[in-house]
Amino acid sequence: MKVTPETVVLVDCNCNEIQKIARAVRSAKVYTMVMPCSVPLERLQAEKPVGIIFCADNNDPELAAKAAGIAALDLPKIAVNGAASMFPGIPAVQLENATAVEPLVKFCFDQCGCTGKWTMENFIEEAVADIRAQVGDQTVVLGLSGGVDSSVVAALIHKAIGKQLTCVFVNHGLLRKNEPENVQKIFTETFDMNLVYIDATDRFLDKLAGVDEPERKRKIIGKEFIEVFADAAREVNAPFLGQGTIYPDILESISFDGKPAIKSHHNVGGLPPDLKFKLVEPVERLFKDEVRQVGRLLGLPSIMLDRHPFPGPSLGVRHVGAISRDTLAVLREADNIVTEELLKSGWYAKTWQTFAIFVPVKTTGIRDGGRSYDNVIAIRSINSVDAVTAEVVELPWDLLFTMSKRIVSEVKGVNRVVYDITQKPPATIEWE
Ligand code: XMP
Repeated sequence: MKVTPETVVLVDCNCNEIQKIARAVRSAKVYTMVMPCSVPLERLQAEKPVGIIFCADNNDPELAAKAAGIAALDLPKIAVNGAASMFPGIPAVQLENATAVEPLVKFCFDQCGCTGKWTMENFIEEAVADIRAQVGDQTVVLGLSGGVDSSVVAALIHKAIGKQLTCVFVNHGLLRKNEPENVQKIFTETFDMNLVYIDATDRFLDKLAGVDEPERKRKIIGKEFIEVFADAAREVNAPFLGQGTIYPDILESISFDGKPAIKSHHNVGGLPPDLKFKLVEPVERLFKDEVRQVGRLLGLPSIMLDRHPFPGPSLGVRHVGAISRDTLAVLREADNIVTEELLKSGWYAKTWQTFAIFVPVKTTGIRDGGRSYDNVIAIRSINSVDAVTAEVVELPWDLLFTMSKRIVSEVKGVNRVVYDITQKPPATIEWE
C-alpha cells in the first residue's frame, strides 16, 4: 500500500495510552503510526517519517538504549511524559492526558512541516487507487457480517472495483430480528453489489440442537461458519480476500519488547489450506472511529455504523443453554423490544451494549387470568471503554419498566423480566 505522506511515527517505549495519543494527533489531520522502540531502523525508515514522537509512561533507560538508532536519526523529535528523561537531548513535553495533544500537534505542524492532509476524504481517494492497483482486473471475495468493519470494507472495495467484488453473507440463524433482510437490502439495493446470501439456519440449528455447554456451542458456530464460508468462497473462485482488519488489530498483534502480543491477528487462520488468498485490507491503518467516518462518507446508514458491538456467535451466546427454534424466537423478539425502546428513548447511543438474554428457568406467573409457567428474560446494559472491564448502566426505571411490560405482554413464553446488575469482573458481558 502506498505510504501516506507526512507520516509521524510514535515510538512506543512502554506507554499504555499510545493508541489514544496516536488517535488524538490524527484528529488534527496528521497521519500517525505506532511502532515499538525495538523496530528495525529500515522498517521505520520505509515509512519515510517526517518526525518522531517518543512515548513512555516511566523513565526506562534500558528501553531508551533500544531506541538509540531512532534517536540518532536526522529528523525532528520530541519526547512525551516518561520518555523526557530517557532521551535527555530531545525536547520534551508532559501531556495532561492522552487526548490533550496540542503540544504534539504544534510539533507536527511547526517542526515536521505537516500540512494537515490526513482526512478521510483523502484516505478514500488513496485507498480506491491502491485497491485498483492491487487487484487489477481480478476478483475479490469478502465475508460480510453486517458489522461496522466488514460493511465499510465492502463499500470501499465496491467503490474501487464495483462488480469485481462478491460479498458472501452467511445467515447462521442466530441473527437479530430483520438483520438478514436489512443487510441484503442495503448492499444489493443501495449499493448494487454482488451478494451471495446463504441461509444456513437449519444447518446451524440442527448442529446446535441439545448442546448446552457454552464453549461447545461457540466451537460449533465457529467451525460451521468457516465451512459454509469456505464453500461459498470456493465457488466465487476469487484470488483475493477482502478483510476488515483495523489498526488496533495490527497493533495488538505486535509483541512488545519480548512480551507476547495481546492477540495474534489471524483473521484468515481458520480457513482450509486449499484456499490461498491474497489479502485486501484497505482499512488496516484506521482506528475504529475513522472506519466509521469512512463508512459515513461512503453512504452507509447510521444504524449500521453506530451500532453496539455484537459477538460473532450472536444470539447463540445470549441464549443460555440448549437452543431450540422456539426459544430462539422468544429471545429475538425480546431483544428487538429492548433495542426499539433504547433507540426511542435516546439511550442506545449512551450505552456500550444493551441487550436481552434468554434464561431457561421457568417461574410461575399469571396470564389471561390463569396460571402461567414460563421463561425469564434478563436485560443487561453496560458501559465500557475496551470491553475488558464494564460498569452496569443505571437505565431509567420507567424505561426498564416499559421494556418489561412490553416483553411480558408481546412475547409469548416469557412471564418475568430481570435486570442484570453485575459489573465485569466478576461477570463477563455476555452470559455465555
Ligand atoms: P465478554 O463476554 O467476554 O465480552 O465480557 C467482551 C466483549 O466481546 C464481545 N464478545 C465477542 N465478540 N466473538 C466476538 O466477536 C465472540 O465470541 C465474543 N464473545 C464476546 C462481547 O459482546 C463484548 O463486547
